[in-house]
Amino acid sequence: MIDKKPLFVTGIGTWIGKTITSAILVEKLKADYWKPVQSGDLDNSDSQKVKSLISNKISFIHPETYLLTQPFSPHKSADIDGITIDAEKFMLPQTNNTLIIEGAGGLMVPLCKGFLMIDLIKKLDAEVILVSQNFLGSINYTLLSTFALKEYDISVRGIIFNGKKDHYSEEFILEHSEITFLGRIPEFDVLDKKAIKEAGNYIDL
Ligand SMILES: Nc1ncnc2c1ncn2[C@@H]1O[C@H](COP(=O)(O)OP(=O)(O)O)[C@@H](O)[C@H]1O
Ligand SMILES: [Mg+2]
Repeated sequence: MIDKKPLFVTGIGTWIGKTITSAILVEKLKADYWKPVQSGDLDNSDSQKVKSLISNKISFIHPETYLLTQPFSPHKSADIDGITIDAEKFMLPQTNNTLIIEGAGGLMVPLCKGFLMIDLIKKLDAEVILVSQNFLGSINYTLLSTFALKEYDISVRGIIFNGKKDHYSEEFILEHSEITFLGRIPEFDVLDKKAIKEAGNYIDL
């Protein structure tokens, strides 16, 4: 089934597993992928990573709206590049397929003056998949993220935990926030197409 709303993969922070999760979802749903803002790593971008990790021939990787050369918060990277990010420029790519969108960093990452990643999610009318990881401090990040999503009245499909299980953390988060558990991605020794395909079986979408 094609999802009506685009699915926006956000995380409780940066380097949490958004790209890996996006690749898994893109492969599982044979969905399209779009990274609106790539900040730094232009020779190994998230779009390139996702492309290299999926096996199906249906998924289309849409071009980024902003490609910034510096690996900082987008508002800083844009300024260094002499660009001002214009919120009006973010238009959903045209597709009949399910669309997986990957944010940069977490929800409260600034794109330009007065405009955060969470504002972009709202503007695109997307449904959120939150990626979390269990480490000391992660309950706080995760609950703050779910709290912000509620405040903004954004629809949330659910949460995916990436890596090691911690039932103290997960049970508390699920009970307190009432967010839907969508699955857990294991820690892979080798992250290749086979692992990404297999991981789809752990996600309930
Ligand atoms: N489940 C996992 N198993 C093995 N390596 C992982 C896993 N999840 C993430 N990684 C590695 O951790 C790093 C950050 O993941 P990534 O998906 O790029 O995070 P983000 O997009 O949130 O910045 C990458 O090097 C990725 O390969
Ligand atoms: Mg990423």
